[in-house]
Amino acid sequence: MSATARDPRRPPAWDVLIIGAGVIGLATAWRVASRGLSVTVVDPDPAGGACRVAAGMLTPVSELAYGEEPLLRLGIASRDRYASFVAELEEAAGHETGYRRDGLLQVAFDSDDLAFLDDLRRFQESLGVPVEALTGRECRRLEPMLAPSVRGGLLAPEDGSVDPRRLTGALLVACQNAGVRLVERRADALIVERDTATGVRLDDGAELRAGKVLLAAGAWSNDLKGLPDGVVPEVRPVKGQVVRLRARAPFLGRATRGLVRGSSIYLVPRADGEIVVGATQEEMGFDTTVTAGGLWQLLRDARELLPGVTELEFAEVSAGLRPGSPDNAPVLGASALPGLFLATGHFRNGVLLAPVTADAMAEMLVDGTVPEVAAPFTPDRFEPFEVEARA
Ligand code: GLY
Repeated sequence: MSATARDPRRPPAWDVLIIGAGVIGLATAWRVASRGLSVTVVDPDPAGGACRVAAGMLTPVSELAYGEEPLLRLGIASRDRYASFVAELEEAAGHETGYRRDGLLQVAFDSDDLAFLDDLRRFQESLGVPVEALTGRECRRLEPMLAPSVRGGLLAPEDGSVDPRRLTGALLVACQNAGVRLVERRADALIVERDTATGVRLDDGAELRAGKVLLAAGAWSNDLKGLPDGVVPEVRPVKGQVVRLRARAPFLGRATRGLVRGSSIYLVPRADGEIVVGATQEEMGFDTTVTAGGLWQLLRDARELLPGVTELEFAEVSAGLRPGSPDNAPVLGASALPGLFLATGHFRNGVLLAPVTADAMAEMLVDGTVPEVAAPFTPDRFEPFEVEARA
């Protein structure tokens, strides 16, 4: 913890300092700056973390899991905000984001997979979210390249996708146009004075002061020195390997998930022919090695669902680190340390939750109120909150 003394008459240089220029940090910076506050964002590799690898599925209904009803509500709120969010962003940045809302098709490879989807549909319907059950033939009518063996599926018509690389590219421009300062350095330590977070020390020793500090560093959220114990819940990296292919002719009309003998796979098409195939889910610490096994698993399952996938051009393979909180839900709001706010732990949903997170954090940082949709996700759900300096 820094004990650097500061002249109390000197105002902080910035209203808000954000650690992390991923999709969450950038979207929040843009929203906060649009509300008239001065914002600086610190990141050695802006837009270079998990959002560079992410496929960009906006699929809260299709990715619903038991016990995650509050997350479903947050995800739907964010998905439903996407159209206006990207319209405003594209206008502010002069860049398009690849946003589309053409539904998500989820298909089953064998009868066990189909039984799982039937169960999921009942659960979705019990929560009042619309999905359409389809036979194998109806799935193939929607997506003619699907294998004849596909047994059936579900269509979530309101789900969609966005291109996270274009999205963060647009956010960088919109931030710049809104006066956000970007500092391409690593935040090394939090500065805490009189039990209040007042800034960060960078890896070159420079110090930046702000009225409020927002930690949005994804899987690296526990790396900052000077964080008092218990203030930031443990955020673990969960590796995802992703393959990018390229189609020269129409191949897939909409984002498609598949269950192949119990193993999940998704393919997300872009207007320019890119097809993103994802993703593995591996608890391997900070390892981003692309492995032969990961690549094989993705291509094997993709080929089972869409045999023509082997004809596509190979473009890229990469691995990213999702930030998983202890309950796999995001952590949004004021921490137990005055001056320090958290927007982290978005796990599989960083891109999906960017609009709702940015708006919620802007409300918390600017107005000091917690919007109802974010209330289940505040940091105080994790106990205990002992604020003690780390050695
Ligand atoms: N949201 C998809 C993934 O994390 O793989």
